[in-house]
Amino acid sequence: MTQPTPRVLSGVQPTGNLHLGNYLGAIRNFVGLQQTHECLYCVVDMHAITVFQDPAELAANTREVAAAFIAAGVDPKSHIVFNQAQVLQHAELAWVLNCVARMGWLNRMTQFKEKAGKDREKASVGLYVYPNLMAADILLYKATHVPVGEDQKQHLELARDIAQKFNNDFNAADFFPQPEPLILGDATRVMSLRDGSKKMSKSDPSDLSRITMSDQADDIAKKIRKAKTDPDALPETVAGLEGRPEAANLLGIFAALSDKPLAEVVTGFAGKQFSDLKTDLADLAIEKIGPIGAEMKRLNEDPATIDAILADGAERARAIAEPIMGEVRKLVGFLGN
Ligand code: TYM
Repeated sequence: MTQPTPRVLSGVQPTGNLHLGNYLGAIRNFVGLQQTHECLYCVVDMHAITVFQDPAELAANTREVAAAFIAAGVDPKSHIVFNQAQVLQHAELAWVLNCVARMGWLNRMTQFKEKAGKDREKASVGLYVYPNLMAADILLYKATHVPVGEDQKQHLELARDIAQKFNNDFNAADFFPQPEPLILGDATRVMSLRDGSKKMSKSDPSDLSRITMSDQADDIAKKIRKAKTDPDALPETVAGLEGRPEAANLLGIFAALSDKPLAEVVTGFAGKQFSDLKTDLADLAIEKIGPIGAEMKRLNEDPATIDAILADGAERARAIAEPIMGEVRKLVGFLGN
């Protein structure tokens, strides 16, 4: 078997409130991978509309995610930054994969259950087949590595199953490679600042639950100051974080932002009070996130430049996607190309 060319693809939804979890779990890792891989970073606007989005806000949020990629250090010249809706092949492959994936597989997706909530009958059909579109995003480029936060692991496993079933069904061994999740660092699941048992999320009604990538210094400081804690001093060892989700979360964020191993950070704060950790964490977060937010703001003031970057990225993405989609059409038996 020939080794597939290493290629990275990842996506972020333009649904507003881009936060520290998105940054530490995903976007920050996008930057480092540029040294070693060919990378495609996609603003997944088609995923966003699985829950209704105000059209003007969707457009603004799409630009904002692209700005966040670039402000964080993604280079749209050496690599590809684009929005999904400009590359029609995503929708085309998603349809084929809708016909490969099994209902039983999708029924197991925990994120659908969480997002659809109690009233599942009222969820959009798009929300249900969302993971098939995500598999299409990855397989359309035969991507081999997918940097994501931990919450996307199950979707990646599904993408692997879909790739394998497609290869089997159409007698095309190794046609789609098995994409590997890259879940990197000490903050692969950043938790809410208000509740250490809940994931930090864009849709949490409390603004205090998340630090956004565009927060100003005083907001960052305030949110960290108000973050939930427990009554004890900070533990001596990593094992001492067991059963202390708020301590684990704040120390994990500190480790990720400072690029230090968690064990070293825990030792540094051993026996100290949460207030000491909060003071240092606020300074660190302002130092690391502040300049990214400022650069995002600068880029957002020039939407024409962002639009040109996305159009150029989409053109280069299509150049990779179309030949692969052409092979898919042939394998499936579609006439006309
Ligand atoms: P999305 O937009 O919800 O999140 C974008 C990225 O941020 C990560 N993330 C987190 N990481 C750590 N802690 C958190 N609290 C946290 N919240 C979010 C996510 O894991 C993700 O990496 N389905 C995807 C988007 C997508 C995609 C793709 C990803 C569409 N197509 C193809 C990879 C490849 C999603 O909804 O991410």
